[in-house]
Amino acid sequence: MEVAVYLGKGVSRAVENVQSMLEPVVIGHDALDQRDVDERLIAADGTPNKEVAGANAILGVSMAVARAAATHQGIPLFHYLSEGGASMLPIPMMNILNGGSHADNNVDIQEFMVFPVGADTFSEALRMGTETFHHLKAVLKELSLNTAVGDEGGFAPDLRSNEEAIDVVLEAVDRAGYSAGSEIFLALDVAASELYDSDRDVYCLKSENRELNSADMIGLYGELVEKYPIVSIEDGLSEDDWEGWEQLQGAIGDRVQIVGDDLTVTNLARLQQAIDRSAMNAILIKLNQIGTVTETIDTITLAKENGMGAIVSHRSGETEDTTIADVSVATGVGQIKTGSASRTDRVCKYNQLLRIEEMLGSRAQFPGMEVLGHKAGG
Ligand code: PGA
Ligand code: ZN
Repeated sequence: MEVAVYLGKGVSRAVENVQSMLEPVVIGHDALDQRDVDERLIAADGTPNKEVAGANAILGVSMAVARAAATHQGIPLFHYLSEGGASMLPIPMMNILNGGSHADNNVDIQEFMVFPVGADTFSEALRMGTETFHHLKAVLKELSLNTAVGDEGGFAPDLRSNEEAIDVVLEAVDRAGYSAGSEIFLALDVAASELYDSDRDVYCLKSENRELNSADMIGLYGELVEKYPIVSIEDGLSEDDWEGWEQLQGAIGDRVQIVGDDLTVTNLARLQQAIDRSAMNAILIKLNQIGTVTETIDTITLAKENGMGAIVSHRSGETEDTTIADVSVATGVGQIKTGSASRTDRVCKYNQLLRIEEMLGSRAQFPGMEVLGHKAGG
């Protein structure tokens, strides 16, 4: 049996593509003209999904050029990308309990996040989330549950139901001394495409031994937001269930942030479709989904122009690169999703945000609820 090097997940082909395909089109051009550089990279690849050079190879060059330009000007990356003036830190959406395909437990919902909206500063919000994470460890230990962490640094215990996951997180918030529903709120990423069985048109909640159709799922979210201080639900339905998304947005989109991730994949055309269909009120922004700095900023701009919220996000598989921290401040979106307070690949983004907060000094601002999709735009 032939075994691929690094199981086929190495970067040698990406490096080769950078050297042979991308380097020749940018060398000699103005690094301060990011749009021109990114357009050159897109043209060199020539496919809508960047499948020839690969989005990660293209993004690597795009981000390197932005960094080089900022360094040349002697200013921090967030400052360079915002063309000056950026001063708003994001509220961290901290994934302290992992399920779904990001963990080896039985919990169906992929991410249970704490969202410290009640903090006055970014550093205070980070401390509140971190304390809650450590209290959650104690809560799980007392219940004799596993406290090993999942892909995004949150705990990944086996539980009897998805609601039990919410209950243990709320217990941790309480023990940390915070009030759920005024200081700390909850956010979920259901990643429902992973639960969807297209042959039978049902969502399988294995931990609860239940199968729900799209309307049942919408009903379930209605109940959850009544019962718990949940302010944001990402990928509540599968990425092809556009009618379901319209109904979900119609049912609870005035009360909760309805976030598209797999639905919109940081793609301008998919976002435009979601806007035209009123299918959501916020978008998750992943740089390597779209593949250049310019297109990332264009997608955020389109969301903002349409009164939507935007959350800059890491990936479940991450590196120590901290560009997303700078992008979150540069674009002033007010929300970042970058995992729990553990694993260096998550913590490094928080450390960069602390540095940015320090650099901004008294100019640093921290937002409130108004940045959420259902509140944004007025
Ligand atoms: P991914 O997950 O990076 O594996 O796509 C993150 C998310 O769903 O938000
Ligand atoms: Zn997601």
